[in-house]
Amino acid sequence: MKSRISRRNFLLGSSAVVAASAMQGIPGTPFTPPINLMKGALGQDIIPKPDHVIRLSSNENPWGPSRAALRAINAAIDESNLYTFFLHDEMAELIGSQQHIGPEHISVGSGSGEILKMGGLLATMDEGSIVIPDPTFEDLPRYAADNGSDVIRVPVNDNMETDLEAMASAIRRDTKLVYICNPNNPIPNIIEKNKLRDFVLEISRDRMVFVDEAYHEFVDNPDYSSMMDLIRDGHRNIIVARTASKIHGLAGLRVGFGFSHPDLAATINRRMTGTLNIIGLRAAFASYRDEEHANFVLRTNREALDIAQGYFREAGIRHIDSNGNFTFVETGHEITEVQARFLEHNIRVGRPFPPFRNWMRLSMGTPDEMRYFVQTYKQLYG
Ligand SMILES: Cc1ncc(COP(=O)(O)O)c(C=O)c1O
Repeated sequence: MKSRISRRNFLLGSSAVVAASAMQGIPGTPFTPPINLMKGALGQDIIPKPDHVIRLSSNENPWGPSRAALRAINAAIDESNLYTFFLHDEMAELIGSQQHIGPEHISVGSGSGEILKMGGLLATMDEGSIVIPDPTFEDLPRYAADNGSDVIRVPVNDNMETDLEAMASAIRRDTKLVYICNPNNPIPNIIEKNKLRDFVLEISRDRMVFVDEAYHEFVDNPDYSSMMDLIRDGHRNIIVARTASKIHGLAGLRVGFGFSHPDLAATINRRMTGTLNIIGLRAAFASYRDEEHANFVLRTNREALDIAQGYFREAGIRHIDSNGNFTFVETGHEITEVQARFLEHNIRVGRPFPPFRNWMRLSMGTPDEMRYFVQTYKQLYG
């Protein structure tokens, strides 16, 4: 039976607490209850069914916020009576200084989901259609469709890549926005950087291009590049979105960012309906200054991917190599059935993404959680 780090240690302890526990493979924190180990009859390690559901379904960060963020959250409780409008500019200054971009380019949203919805809303207000890859992250298109826009879906190509040429051809005269998710979700591949830059520059001459970079911090791929430099260079019709939800582990506290030309940023800022909350903002301030936590998350995410994708590779199971904190796997079985069977073992995996009904989106948990996942996969389908 492995020990569990106390909540107090986790909140207030030295960095060694988390680092040492990770090295021993003991990921018990307030956010990740420990996984136990037993010896089987042949002396091999067996992981018994945990007493809680492991969430491998929503691309969340299994480690939770950094200790610095947790201390800031504790302190921010005493500021709960205060409105946050005085903090918006300060947040934009911090993020702007890190991205080498003026704060007038920045919108701070209630998650990047709010920035995505603003993109959808601006297109709809202009009575325009939008063009998206299919499948992709649905926040922006769903909001645009709910408000009356036509959503033109362009299927990914046979390699499951976003098909820029087909997207360019699908653009209609009334198209007001083209959405690109890079890396994409649920398919965690990227678009080659030069092709994407040419596409964004060309298409944004006449309409908005929204580049969602929610998984930017996870990408380690020489063919990838952020499109942030186009915002720095003053291009007008481009929005880049980032989030504190993923590598910073703040999904429940709702902080995200949009980057665009100052005129577009001002339009977005006027339209936003969410209000920032002080606990989320204080946590984000602390987290964006804490490289140690981000590096820890990156390292363990890589380890988790190596465990899961390593198994798929070994077993010859087709999957799309990850550029994020999730992978996409062809199980060969109807996903609703796969979900139900994993849930019996206390693992929640991703939802259906039609037309890929025999594929599963698998978010990365801790390395030990992924070991338990692989053990279960072998039992169910191996
Ligand atoms: C591609 C992509 N964009 C944006 C988001 C939204 O993130 P949030 O609203 O938490 O910033 C997600 C969440 O899963 C995502 O996968």
